[in-house]
Amino acid sequence: MSKLRYGIVGGGEGSFIGVVHRNALALSGQFELVCACFSRDSGKNQRTAASVGLDAARVYDSFAEMAAAEAARSDKPDFMVVTTRNDWHFEACKAFLETGFHVMCEKPLATNTADALELKRIAKANDLLLAVSYTYSGHVMAMDARNRIRRGEIGDILMVMGEYPQDWLLDMADGKDHGIATWRIDPKIAGGSNCIGDIGTHIEHTVSFMTGLKIVKLCAVLDKVGEGTELDNNAAVLLKFDNGATGCYWCSQVAAGYDNALKVRIFGTNGAVEFDQEASNYLKVVKKSGPVEIHSRGRGYVTAAAAAYAVIPAGHPEGYHNAFANLYLSFAEAVKDKQNGTLKPLCEYDFATVDNGIEGVRFIEACLQSASAGGAWVDL
Ligand SMILES: NC(=O)c1ccc[n+]([C@@H]2O[C@H](COP(=O)([O-])OP(=O)(O)OC[C@H]3O[C@@H](n4cnc5c(N)ncnc54)[C@H](O)[C@@H]3O)[C@@H](O)[C@H]2O)c1
Repeated sequence: MSKLRYGIVGGGEGSFIGVVHRNALALSGQFELVCACFSRDSGKNQRTAASVGLDAARVYDSFAEMAAAEAARSDKPDFMVVTTRNDWHFEACKAFLETGFHVMCEKPLATNTADALELKRIAKANDLLLAVSYTYSGHVMAMDARNRIRRGEIGDILMVMGEYPQDWLLDMADGKDHGIATWRIDPKIAGGSNCIGDIGTHIEHTVSFMTGLKIVKLCAVLDKVGEGTELDNNAAVLLKFDNGATGCYWCSQVAAGYDNALKVRIFGTNGAVEFDQEASNYLKVVKKSGPVEIHSRGRGYVTAAAAAYAVIPAGHPEGYHNAFANLYLSFAEAVKDKQNGTLKPLCEYDFATVDNGIEGVRFIEACLQSASAGGAWVDL
């Protein structure tokens, strides 16, 4: 089977997530990097290209130039990947969609709902796929949780608890590099939110992915801990879902002792599931009146559709890169189906769609709206 060709924006020397995307795309051996704009800094761009052995003729100092030049080639990429900071997502996705490329974009899809909706309009007008890389739904055991909930194992969902604590903004006071780009705390770049937009949105998507529930209203309290802090770095959100269930989300970048502790607990009338991304090879499953079970990825009882993504035996941990790789395998299937005229309804694939991306941006905006009204309930 021929490899799918892709181009990438971002992931230059010293950056975080673009490099993860490249590594993840390399894991399955099914993708080939053919063009890039790793950075707007020409030196960094060229050095990164040389380090990955990319043909210098297909390395561009702007994504607009890359979109135009690559669209004119007979061997053009099958899709483009956008891994820049939030403030460039809209322009980069727009440039690629308008020149005929399917796109995988980092979260949040855009810095406001109007831009996210415009991207959906452009994708639809050009008959293209636009996906959003919400990492955690790519884990085998997150997919297993979704499959179990879909087939009714825990009954009707009653309530959802989600948390995502980190402590890097407490640590910033030591002046050391903690490997996380500080544009996140700059309102000119990050948009109206830091913590909710950066990690709260991962809780929102992971729950949405597992349960299929839609948020109908929420109220949020956003804290700006520390002198001179301009954007939220700690947040608590109460939620109501379309089936009447309630939810409670907490995300923080000032919670001492926490790295990337995304944890989601879903409680139903017949049981519960609990997923912890720092122990992502396991899933806690409880059936009403039954024992508390810890399920292990790679075992025969994992639901078949999730187990199909596992690449190594139980006990050898799969992790962050594998989650991204799984999202790309599902996205690649959709791209190929699209090319062959056999695209299924998007709900039958495992990657986050443009509609999930729009929901994510709406969630961020609703939290900001609620917080600025003193924690008032806001309809979505
Ligand atoms: N899905 C996840 O788990 C996850 C994790 C981290 C970051 N992210 C998202 O990824 C994005 C990037 O975050 P990061 O931490 O990697 O940031 P970063 O600052 O480390 O990297 C951004 C990269 O994009 C490049 N860049 C910026 N503007 C550009 C432009 N106009 N043209 C070309 N290149 C450009 C920079 O040179 C750099 O290489 C953010 O939107 C963030 O929300 C997602």
